[in-house]
Formats: sequence, C-alpha cells, structure tokens
Amino acid sequence: MKKGVFGSGRLLCYLSRIVPLRLKKVKVDDKRSIKLFLYKKQFKLQYGRVLYSDGTEYFPFKMAFSKMKTRLSESENVLVLGAGIGSVGMMLHDKFPAKQWQMHFVDISRPILETCSSVMDFFPNVKGEYTQADAVAFIQKAPGKRYDLVCIDVFEEDKVPDEILSEGFLHGVKNVLKEQSAVVMNMMFENDTQKQRFEQILTDEFRVFDRLEKEQNSIYILPAKS
Ligand SMILES: C[S@@+](CC[C@H](N)C(=O)[O-])C[C@H]1O[C@@H](n2cnc3c(N)ncnc32)[C@H](O)[C@@H]1O
Repeated sequence: MKKGVFGSGRLLCYLSRIVPLRLKKVKVDDKRSIKLFLYKKQFKLQYGRVLYSDGTEYFPFKMAFSKMKTRLSESENVLVLGAGIGSVGMMLHDKFPAKQWQMHFVDISRPILETCSSVMDFFPNVKGEYTQADAVAFIQKAPGKRYDLVCIDVFEEDKVPDEILSEGFLHGVKNVLKEQSAVVMNMMFENDTQKQRFEQILTDEFRVFDRLEKEQNSIYILPAKS
C-alpha cells in the first residue's frame, strides 16, 4: 500500500493486521453511513448494517471466479453494475496480476463511486471508468459498448431492486454482450416464487446458466459454457 489519500500506508497496513481501521465515513441519511475499513490488508465497505464489499474475500464473486478461470483469462473489458469499492476489480487484479483490466464501474451512489475510484488507485492494473447511474437506466440507454464480462451486483442494503429481476433489464443486458461474453449475477430473493420467476426469465433469455448457492445468495453464471 502506498502513501496517498488514506495517509501513511505502511503504518496503516501494520495496524490493520490487528484491528479494523476506519479510513472514511460518509453519512448518507439519518440512519445510515458508508464506512470504508482496512482490515487484514483488505478494503471493506459497510453500508448501514450490511457489508457491501469484502476485499478479495467477497464470496459471491470469489465462488464464481473460481469456476471461470479460462473465461476470465480471455477477458479484458469488464462492466460492473453495483460497484461497491470494487472487490471484483481487486480479485481480478489478484488472479491475473500481469493483465491490464479495463473496468467500467456503475453505481447509483456518488460517495460509493468516489470511494471505489480512490481504492482502485491501489490496483494499478485496473484502469477504471466510473459512471454514476441507476444500473437499469444505464442498460436501457444502451451504452453502445460491449464487454467481455458483466458483473451484476446491485443491492439496496440486502435487497435486490425489483427492476433488476425484470425481463426488460435482463433482455437489455444482452445488448452489452459479445458472442463469448460471460455474465455473473449475485442475487438474493424474497421467496421461492420470486426466484422461480427470475430463473424462468433467465432460461428464456440465456437458455443455459450455472447457479451457485451460499447462505441467502444465489450466484448465476451465464452462459455457463461457450
Ligand atoms: C453489494 S454492493 C456491490 C459490491 C461490488 N460489486 C464489489 O465488487 O465490491 C451493491 C452496490 O449496488 C449499488 N446500487 C444500489 N442500487 C443501485 C442501482 N439502482 N443502480 C446502480 N447501483 C446500485 C450500491 O450503491 C452498492 O454499491
């Protein structure tokens, strides 16, 4: 870690092995703030009661990426809908330190996006582009670009906005894909009916997908095989 916006790097790194260090706090409303921590060499982002990003240990994408090594090695342009502080970027940086990643981070929250950009400065092989936008509106506007990998991780605390589960959104995602692109979606459902409905849409739009499960999270990899 280098000296920079967060102060003297070496000292912070050392202290963070022992206790979680709070590097930043931004109040977003009466009840909630976003808090950036460094703990055991990992950047973590807490929003209200929920841990949004967990360094390279962020389990939904850690699980998915462990199954996609070849596909990741062939990827370069990545779209992240729901940026957090870029755990996805940290993991790709870690897995392929010799690669240059072009990552487009989209998030509805300006303070989160600004924090993401400062944290990504510590990961020199990630070249970030940052867009403050609602993920659904971003996809509907059709950015005109196509990506090798699309990571969808949009949560309002522990809830996935309804529009992310909709046919319109999933159909729109196809417009930013190349023939060999992969999509990873981290989801949580309110009940089985919602999950079944969502999987029916996936089946209609993508035909084939892998599903991984841990705790309340369902992680989808589409298309499962090229
Ligand atoms: C679990 S965090 C994402 C963690 C991130 N993928 C990472 O790798 O660290 C969920 C993110 O979704 C964002 N979010 C919530 N609603 C959104 C929306 N409608 N459009 C875009 N981003 C949204 C939140 O601000 C938050 O940063």
